[in-house]
Amino acid sequence: MFEQLEMATADPILGLTEAFKADENPEKINLGVGVYKDEAGATPVMTSVKKAEAKILEQETTKNYLPMQGSSEYAVAVQELLFGAGSETISSKRAATAQTPGGTGALRMAGELIKQVNPKARLWVSDPTWANHNGIFGSAGIELSTYPYYNTNSKCLDFDAMVAGIKEIPAGDVILLHGCCHNPTGLDPNEEQWHHLATLITQRKIFPLFDFAYQGLATGIDEDATGLRLFAQNVPEMLIANSYSKNFGLYSERVGGLTIVCGSQQEAQTAFSHLKLTIRRCYSNPPSHGGAIVATIMADKTLRAEWETEVSQIRLRIKEMRELFVKTLKTKGVRDDFSFIARQNGMFSFSGLTKYQVEKLKQDYSIYIVDSGRINVAGMTHGNMDQLCEAIASVL
Ligand code: LMR
Repeated sequence: MFEQLEMATADPILGLTEAFKADENPEKINLGVGVYKDEAGATPVMTSVKKAEAKILEQETTKNYLPMQGSSEYAVAVQELLFGAGSETISSKRAATAQTPGGTGALRMAGELIKQVNPKARLWVSDPTWANHNGIFGSAGIELSTYPYYNTNSKCLDFDAMVAGIKEIPAGDVILLHGCCHNPTGLDPNEEQWHHLATLITQRKIFPLFDFAYQGLATGIDEDATGLRLFAQNVPEMLIANSYSKNFGLYSERVGGLTIVCGSQQEAQTAFSHLKLTIRRCYSNPPSHGGAIVATIMADKTLRAEWETEVSQIRLRIKEMRELFVKTLKTKGVRDDFSFIARQNGMFSFSGLTKYQVEKLKQDYSIYIVDSGRINVAGMTHGNMDQLCEAIASVL
């Protein structure tokens, strides 16, 4: 069966991590995969997570299966982070959450569910979008199209073009929106624009699916949920796929969630019953540990406060690196205007570096950047900034 196969093409993001690991240059820099690095270039376990794990280890009594939808304590924690404590979306019980293996697992389950319920629906993603969206939804049998998002010249969100593009989406199709820290551009709609989008998408009877993987990395935990909360209050139905890889640093624990929001509790429970079966057929039930960590932190006031402080430290360090990057490029003689990088949100920026320049940075300087020119600002440190900016100056 396998002898007829040729090598598959490497994944544009994780394939780069493999190449980075194999590179023996001690000065190598990885700005590829979206993983947070501290000032020492490490991705440490958060202190709040360590404390929660100690508590879990002490109190855990079984390794029995979780239900198909995962832990109910975790679902409570997810909904509180998504919608805010005491929100109507929670108190009306018209939202139902399943714990999933990472945000990728959540997106795939969303794709499987959409394919079952509305097989003809096409999924519309922003141009550009996360490189894996195409693969995840394509494998679920969903056809994809794009709507405009980014203006290459101004390096800004092209909101007018986005709105015009959405007006072309047929009723019944699904639109994927990045809740905050758009991957790969780092450009998000403002509050007024989110309002506009919620109204337009409802009027046109388009189904919204949020990908929400960076809560807390743009402005704040509640602030970053502004768009999503507006939608939850105003649209009849939606899906939200979230991940806690970045904001809890739980990359390897694979912890995410898929939340269905409907008009009533009964509708949500009916839709959820189908999601549970979809889960059963794909991976049966989720792994427990990561969800237990999030639930433990969220249920403990002290741990939660500690976690919030840790998230704000991550956010502030990324912002500092954005500003330092712009400043250092200037001091290295770069004349092109990179000031847009300091105005973007989250880990990623669309640098404008060409494929050729990206390749040259890899070959000549062991600097790893995704082909599209997306850079992970969280991989920059005070220690590697000079070296990085000198190399970029030389390839520009
Ligand atoms: C990224 O975009 O780099 C992250 O979401 C990690 C991944 O799985 O691609």
